[in-house]
Amino acid sequence: MQTSIAGDSPLFSPVTLAGWTAPHRVVMAPMTRARSMQPGDVPNALNARYYAQRASAALIVTEATQISPQGKGYSFTPGIHSAEQVAGWRGVVEAVHAAGGHIFLQLWHVGRMSHPDFHQGALPVAPSAVPFQGQIWKVDPATGAGAMVDCPTPRALTLAEIQAVIDDYRRAAKNAMAAGFDGVEIHGANGYLVDQFLRTSSNLRQDDYGGSRDNRLRFLKEVVTAVAAEAGAERTAIRLAPFLTARGMDCPDILPTILDAARFLQAQGIAYLHLVEADWDDAPQFSEDFRREVRARFQRPIIVAGNYDLARAEWVLRQGYADLVAFGRPFVANPDLPRRLAERLPLATLDPATLFGGGERGYADYPALAAG
Ligand SMILES: Cc1cc2nc3c(=O)[nH]c(=O)nc-3n(C[C@H](O)[C@H](O)[C@H](O)COP(=O)(O)O)c2cc1C
Repeated sequence: MQTSIAGDSPLFSPVTLAGWTAPHRVVMAPMTRARSMQPGDVPNALNARYYAQRASAALIVTEATQISPQGKGYSFTPGIHSAEQVAGWRGVVEAVHAAGGHIFLQLWHVGRMSHPDFHQGALPVAPSAVPFQGQIWKVDPATGAGAMVDCPTPRALTLAEIQAVIDDYRRAAKNAMAAGFDGVEIHGANGYLVDQFLRTSSNLRQDDYGGSRDNRLRFLKEVVTAVAAEAGAERTAIRLAPFLTARGMDCPDILPTILDAARFLQAQGIAYLHLVEADWDDAPQFSEDFRREVRARFQRPIIVAGNYDLARAEWVLRQGYADLVAFGRPFVANPDLPRRLAERLPLATLDPATLFGGGERGYADYPALAAG
């Protein structure tokens, strides 16, 4: 990378994260691409090539990866609960490491954002039996065509089942570390299971896991503790989406809840806190007051994501509101995104038709720019 061209950009200054020092602060955001091998949701050589092409990121966060069969909610997404999946991920990690990169696995349980077709006809599970407004992507086994489909009302997890899910997180973290990952990021954002526990809109429980702020935070805290016991706190991270309102997640108490979470996460000494701002077209406003409130409680590395470009990334770093910036869609069509940003080179645009499912096309065939 031509640091002389990047000049004094805060995006192109070194940063220490989870025990290594990256030369810049451009992170690849987690992105579901629905291309794991079937049957079995197993990562493969094509996935390894795709991630290795993007190894110049300061950190790659993988696509969301189900911790258990119950945690699945979309077709062709990978898992980290079978021996084949662990072996497949080992191939991905080795390819990224060989290319000089670092990679965290994103741990995923979708909760209610799922469909009985993934569970032999059984209902998806959630904190409470509350449906959400939204759809998941599912392939019709009869036609092989993928489409967004509605989800039924889920059933509420029992207390014993909650403990079993926490244990699934722990086992998934253990598997991820066995596959060689540099760490794990718990998917606590975007309306999935951890998020469903946090919010009054999706959590109507009246036991220890619902009601008060402390009770709604209990699941997150227990998952973080269980994962950190396997991976080490300094290799454990979490992604949260404070301003999300879509997917039935509009909760009047979510900001103070997340600020309490930030204080807990600081005390745990986790690797980083990953904040989702605008996600697609939802939650465009992320107030500066809130950024300051988060920073007051969490001084360890913060990653932010959501519609960032070079100028906004430099602004958020200069303000001290974040330490690294994750880019999602720009990384799809620009495998060498850090270099292009550093040298102010043109960015390619992605083909939306090839985001989910399929093979190499629109996935591992976007070229890096020739060395200039
Ligand atoms: C194709 C696609 C798949 C995504 N899948 C995930 C995912 O698996 N986990 C997650 O936390 N966010 C996911 N996201 C959200 C991105 O990580 C990111 O927050 C979002 O795209 C906004 O950043 P951007 O404007 O730089 O793309 C996905 C986004 C895209 C475009």
